[in-house]
Amino acid sequence: MQLVQPVDWISETKFVVGGLSFGSDLGSYQELTTPDNVVILKEARLLKEYLNFLAPHPVRNILEFGIWQGGSPLFYGMATDAQKIVALDHLNPGPAPADAAHDRAVALAYKNPALDGIIERYGMSKRVKLHFGVSQDDRAAVTAVMDEEFGDEPIDLVIDDASHYYAHSRKSFEIAFPRLREGGLYIIEDWQWAHSPAYQNGGHFADKPALSNLIFELLIAYGSQPDLFWNIIVRDWFVAVTKGSRPLGDDFRLDDQLRMRGATLSLI
Ligand SMILES: C[S@@+](CC[C@H](N)C(=O)[O-])C[C@H]1O[C@@H](n2cnc3c(N)ncnc32)[C@H](O)[C@@H]1O
Repeated sequence: MQLVQPVDWISETKFVVGGLSFGSDLGSYQELTTPDNVVILKEARLLKEYLNFLAPHPVRNILEFGIWQGGSPLFYGMATDAQKIVALDHLNPGPAPADAAHDRAVALAYKNPALDGIIERYGMSKRVKLHFGVSQDDRAAVTAVMDEEFGDEPIDLVIDDASHYYAHSRKSFEIAFPRLREGGLYIIEDWQWAHSPAYQNGGHFADKPALSNLIFELLIAYGSQPDLFWNIIVRDWFVAVTKGSRPLGDDFRLDDQLRMRGATLSLI
């Protein structure tokens, strides 16, 4: 994936591509995209790392789980040579009720109405497709999006930046990984959340199993079935799994891939 528009990296939390501004405070989850600024939940450092990492990989098609205020799909649409960027989110597709105008919590629960205008204004209507009201673990709904947007064409890159819950992320992997071409990448962001200082005592993920459980299972799957993946690359904030040569279908389930000598894994 190549950068095809120069990015003006003004600061870690503000950058401009082709006249469109991106930026956010990263952590509050309170900001709304406006026609002049797209809220993106990634700082410049992470995007630059992604661009470097993805540079050697030809990427025509992207499927991303997790849209929020539109930041990452619009950034990939504006800045890169990806031909189609399809993203989905379980937020309500709207239109939002009237009280969204003065109640931010209501507004944030719905698709941001500014997104369609931005996509149109910057000529991305054919390339960037956002689907709201779709949960990442809903096999029928996610499959319908993939069928509608990609048809028989294999996907080059899947990015999971949605709930970061173990169960959801595992399900998304089972649903979307088989649709990658051989050599395509499946990226799981923020796999390490359970091991960061912020989540040692409660917080958003308090009662949830660690996402790293999924990474352990992927490693075991690779050891059990060497043709499943070409490799698994672990970085500090994402894991990239490269699809191997084995063709996979809708019946792909991780449990079937693990040779465990009769033992069972317990979740941390
Ligand atoms: C971290 S934000 C995505 C940020 C965006 N990719 C960016 O970089 O600006 C995570 C998003 O995942 C969505 N999400 C949470 N659970 C989900 C689920 N089960 N299915 C689909 N989306 C979900 C949330 O609504 C939220 O918009």
